[in-house]
Amino acid sequence: MKQHMKNTVTVFAPASVSNINCGFDIFGFALDEPGDEIVMTLNDSGKVTIDAITGDEGLLPKDTEKNTASAVVQLYLNQLGLQQGVGIVLHKKMPLNSGLGSSAASSVAALVAINTLMGNRLTRRELLPLAMEGERLACGNAHADNVAPSLFGGLVLLRGYNPPDTVQLPVPENLWCGVVHPDVSIPTREARQMLPTMIPLRDAVTQWGNVAGLVAGFYQNDLELIGRSMQDIIIEPVRAGRIPHFYAMRDLAMKAGAVGFGISGSGPTVFTFCESEKQAQLINEQLSSLLNEHAITNQCYVSKINQQGARIEPLTSDL
Ligand code: HSE
Repeated sequence: MKQHMKNTVTVFAPASVSNINCGFDIFGFALDEPGDEIVMTLNDSGKVTIDAITGDEGLLPKDTEKNTASAVVQLYLNQLGLQQGVGIVLHKKMPLNSGLGSSAASSVAALVAINTLMGNRLTRRELLPLAMEGERLACGNAHADNVAPSLFGGLVLLRGYNPPDTVQLPVPENLWCGVVHPDVSIPTREARQMLPTMIPLRDAVTQWGNVAGLVAGFYQNDLELIGRSMQDIIIEPVRAGRIPHFYAMRDLAMKAGAVGFGISGSGPTVFTFCESEKQAQLINEQLSSLLNEHAITNQCYVSKINQQGARIEPLTSDL
């Protein structure tokens, strides 16, 4: 039986849902599944290389500077003044350009892996700015609302960006999340370019009220207040048009009793907050059927909010 050697580690980093409607770039939470897995091995090459990628249908770059996983590992080594050979195998276990924090999960898994192999020289908090650079490479903007939950787990508020200031919010006990990914691709870079750069003060006031209401709802374990606050009058109206049957899906979900419904990150994935696993499952099935009726393949997940974040996988016997 073969086992991991000291110079190899496997890390899983979870997908995440960001924005939670009103909180563009400032809220995100981790899911139990899907996620990405990185198998990282130290070697004597003096270089960081992507040795293999599975599950990406050949779409991701393998150049060290272009792939987010290898690029952030190189940044980590540069920051610590280390010249270390590293081989990376990336198992993509979620769709690309899905709004589920796919690039974030790869960067986070890679950083937790290299940090583990290097003896945990940095804390997870110190890894955050490096993971954010992975987002800059992936989509042109170093937002943290996917990388922070994937790294730390839980429900995260980005109180500020300069420097990144994260606050863990309480996770309501009975909150379940349903996630439906319609098989269309929306690159985050494009989904950000379509957004307005100026907003009327009146709209900002509405949005601030909802953001504050959402935080209060999480603290008070008040699902009704959470649902009432999941309104986005700035970003959703611009992005919804690119998501097939978005408003029909929202009507279905809300009629079926969802706490709230919205776009996961920059889409096309949509998510619901629900009061039970069963309800999340049932609503997922209804949304999936609707998409199937229009010949749009889709993938569904049901999850509580993952409180753990990226995790080191146990030793396995098949490596
Ligand atoms: N907050 C980012 C956006 C997340 O909405 O563009 C991207 O997944």
